[in-house]
Amino acid sequence: MSISKLFDISGKTALVTGGSRGIGLMIARGFVEAGVKTYISSRKAEACEQAAAELNKIGTCIPLAHDLGNMAEVKKLADEVKAREKRLDILINNAGAAWAEPIDKYSESGWDKLMNVNLKAIFFLTQALLPPLRAAAKEGDPARIVNIGSIDGLLAPSLESYAYSASKAAVHHLTRNLAKHLAKDNITVNAIAPGPFETKMLAPVLAANRKLVEGGVPLGRIGQDDDMVGAAIFYCSKASSYVTGTVLPVDGGISGTPYTSTTFSL
Ligand SMILES: NC(=O)c1ccc[n+]([C@@H]2O[C@H](COP(=O)([O-])OP(=O)(O)OC[C@H]3O[C@@H](n4cnc5c(N)ncnc54)[C@H](OP(=O)(O)O)[C@@H]3O)[C@@H](O)[C@H]2O)c1
Repeated sequence: MSISKLFDISGKTALVTGGSRGIGLMIARGFVEAGVKTYISSRKAEACEQAAAELNKIGTCIPLAHDLGNMAEVKKLADEVKAREKRLDILINNAGAAWAEPIDKYSESGWDKLMNVNLKAIFFLTQALLPPLRAAAKEGDPARIVNIGSIDGLLAPSLESYAYSASKAAVHHLTRNLAKHLAKDNITVNAIAPGPFETKMLAPVLAANRKLVEGGVPLGRIGQDDDMVGAAIFYCSKASSYVTGTVLPVDGGISGTPYTSTTFSL
């Protein structure tokens, strides 16, 4: 197969949750540019519509606003997708929230809110969308689920973000468990574990600690749109048809070389 065919995802249909901004919008833009009919979702209808209007100048993007912290809304999002599409080739479970608080004050409601959107919603949205994913799955070109985890689910983070890091470690393991059981349906399930990317979520961290964050990345920079798009397209193209149950750190080397920040010589 030619190299361009190997990475060709044109003609597919995708849903990117949290596609209104940040990493989700990076992936959605990459998909739309690559000829994928792309649904995006987020809580705020206006932000979702604005992002879709922008992407519709390049290709096809449909906004669907739903709060994935709420199970009834998770189901509604899946129902809306299923009402419009018999087949769904790609599901990107990206929507997520972050929050940190000192351990002595860490609240139960905050813990539950994070676990609901970062973890529970991924499982139940995936479950509800299995019929159109199964319908799209082909031998040699499976349907794809890509979960967005985090390097905070691989390494203990600097911030006191207990529920966040635990939810992301759970996302990585859920990815492996889903991969094992959905392989028979020709659906691959993989995760991307991003390092630092310039988004609203990371803005307060970068405002206070940019030099420290950049200094902790072996490649010496914050992640850029193409870094994320490249990984997402790999996981959704024929190039990765034989890859499932993996977690790909897209982090400039942070998790692969954890001693970098303490490098010394004799
Ligand atoms: N940025 C980084 O450096 C970094 C690093 C590691 C992992 N990640 C992960 O990457 C993913 C995207 O993060 P980001 O940095 O792009 O964050 P972001 O800029 O804050 O974007 C989050 C997206 O998720 C949506 N969202 C949040 N809560 C939601 C809910 N309850 N229901 C539906 N949609 C919701 C947001 O839209 P609304 O506000 O309109 O709902 C937005 O579209 C997250 O899973 C995050 O944990 C990010």
